[in-house]
Amino acid sequence: MASTNPHSSKTGYRAEMDDAERASRDEITALQTRRLAWSLAYAYDNVAHYKKAFDKAGVHPKDFWKLSDLASFPFTVKADLRDNYPFDMFAVPREKLVRVHASSGTTGKPIVVGYTRADIEMWSDVMARSIRAAGGRTGMIMHNAYGYGLFTGGLGAHYGAERLGCTVVPVSGGMTERQVQLINDFKPDIITVTPSYMLAILDEFKKQKLDPRKSSLKFGIFGAEPWTNAMRAEIETAFHMDATDIYGLSEVIGPGVAQECVETKDGLHIWEDHFYPEVVDPETGAVLPDGEKGELVFTSLTKEAFPIIRYRTRDLTRLLPGTARPGMRRMEKVTGRSDDMIILRGVNVFPTQIEEVLLATDWCGGHFIIELTREGRMDEMTVLAEARPENWDGSGLAEHTERVTAYIKNTIGISTRVRAVAPETLERSLGKAKRVYDKRPKG
Ligand code: DLL
Repeated sequence: MASTNPHSSKTGYRAEMDDAERASRDEITALQTRRLAWSLAYAYDNVAHYKKAFDKAGVHPKDFWKLSDLASFPFTVKADLRDNYPFDMFAVPREKLVRVHASSGTTGKPIVVGYTRADIEMWSDVMARSIRAAGGRTGMIMHNAYGYGLFTGGLGAHYGAERLGCTVVPVSGGMTERQVQLINDFKPDIITVTPSYMLAILDEFKKQKLDPRKSSLKFGIFGAEPWTNAMRAEIETAFHMDATDIYGLSEVIGPGVAQECVETKDGLHIWEDHFYPEVVDPETGAVLPDGEKGELVFTSLTKEAFPIIRYRTRDLTRLLPGTARPGMRRMEKVTGRSDDMIILRGVNVFPTQIEEVLLATDWCGGHFIIELTREGRMDEMTVLAEARPENWDGSGLAEHTERVTAYIKNTIGISTRVRAVAPETLERSLGKAKRVYDKRPKG
């Protein structure tokens, strides 16, 4: 499908890259060393939390000479940001902020992040670069279905598209019928949305008896939640489009920290001129060599309002050498967050593993949830998988679900119950999908 799309031709990408995208690995490393020295000193001098944390660890920004020296600086974790709620992590007076965003914590206070005008400029630049890497070009129409508001997705993608010179349709999430109508009427080239909500849009196309393959959409930029290559294939085939992965988090800037290039679709290039990645052992915190899987950690190199030093993202991935942008490393698709990992009778399992298995069947289109319950002393996992409308005959698809149960047992090593449910019965998220419902008694 991708190869027959004239917009995914391999020519023309290099010509439009910016200087950092063309830089060699050595040039990027030299730039990072200079910028890290600045960022560490800037955070130490302007944020009380960093001064205290560095002093406590017995390190000073002057101890930083080379990239590997960063390992002696302390980590920043979510609790540090929460403890400094709302504005105490900022390195500039409040009047210098042109915007704040917040990420909704599941419990208690949210994390508040802030931006100076220069930060918004940088964010717009990396987002514009991301949209271009995904196939977007000046003059295209972009349907932006990421949520607008305190969430960074909507406004982040919006400013990037304007910077690239696209016409933005700022739809935000929700009102799925109208999303489909606007896609039909305005004929956008690009769509930005969470992959799970893209499936809801796909359902609506079918409900309205419209052929999604005939839609104008050519490029989809999907992120904000984990998704698999099986889901990519599902979306690309359904819409006859190129689908790439975008990664980011509020604490680092928002979307646009890393983006998959459309010509290779082989993991996400980290925009290393602005964000320095490390992968650490989640247990010991030791920095792991490139290629080894662990927890992703980021340090900002150029941010003014909210510099962030060695932030533990809890996202699990590994670093790989650059391909389409040789100077900048890639991160493998994030399989999940350490907090999303389900430990079922000693076996670790991520919702993405279940997604992959379900999409390998022909009866489930990718809508699913996982329920955890306790029976006696045993934890039980039930997968509720929605059948595609064309495959649902009301029978419960017993034979098919048994096959999936056996497959999960043989590949992941856990006993689950898999139940096929009728189309349109599971709740649709408008943004990030909630996959796991933990109904086990607390404590
Ligand atoms: O989700 C920013 C964003 C918006 C990224 C739109 C991409 C597109 P937060 O709400 O702070 O920010 O959530 C950040 O979401 O630590 C990951 O766990 C997860 N996440 C984001 N992108 C991806 C992705 C936005 N491509 C958290 N794959 C991160 C897997 C992702 N997980």
